[in-house]
Amino acid sequence: MIVTTGCQSNAFTREGLLVPVTKQGQVILSMWQGSWLAAWTVGIIVWGGILWAIIFHRKRGDQLPRQVRYNLPIEILYTVLPFIMVGVLFFFTARNENYIGKNPSNPDVTVHVIGEQWHWQFIYPQYSTASGQAVTEDGSQWRPGLPSSQLPLLVIPTNETVQFNLTSIDVIHAFWIAPFEFKRDVIPGYANRFTVTPIRTGTFIGRCSELCGVYHSRMLFRVKIVTPAQFRVWIHAQQARQSSPGGAQ
Ligand code: CUA
Repeated sequence: MIVTTGCQSNAFTREGLLVPVTKQGQVILSMWQGSWLAAWTVGIIVWGGILWAIIFHRKRGDQLPRQVRYNLPIEILYTVLPFIMVGVLFFFTARNENYIGKNPSNPDVTVHVIGEQWHWQFIYPQYSTASGQAVTEDGSQWRPGLPSSQLPLLVIPTNETVQFNLTSIDVIHAFWIAPFEFKRDVIPGYANRFTVTPIRTGTFIGRCSELCGVYHSRMLFRVKIVTPAQFRVWIHAQQARQSSPGGAQ
């Protein structure tokens, strides 16, 4: 884990993952890199052992070579080593999952995410309009030829804890923003949630990653990570816009 931090910007060292945009994503990337490093290390030792046996212990003549059995040190070694390997992987997995799964009781920003065939809705319960309704980002229901500028828009700030509460009103969907390195199911009748702390501004595409019907592949949304100041400006503009008659979506 320690070895691999600092080289997160190289596509090769990231082993195919995107540049993470959240603190949690950075932890997942380190876990991914560490797991590959462990797998390569074990692989090289095992392949080395096989090659060594093939080359230096190949059959010579018809004499059976000296047989090794009941070698207690070797048997203890290959019993204990896998336990250590599993233990190390388990330790880092449990530690990282505890961190990634943490939901602070008082997140800076809460977003209710509602999935439906084939559309997303984002509700900001901490920000209401003049009529007392929460700010809601809806976009347009997907139809053939819908311009991507009309996809639902999710805006979140950097350096603040953002909690997503996920629910579905029909079938199981999954909420996935690729550079989060993370996805979570959106299940009818069950409230799923997770919290992230964004660290990088940018515009991304979010996706549904659970086959949910004909237009599953079109169940997209736009994600904008902005600075906290930009976020406040945007959310207050939404409050004003959705408060004016005919302004709400
Ligand atoms: Cu919703 Cu796939």
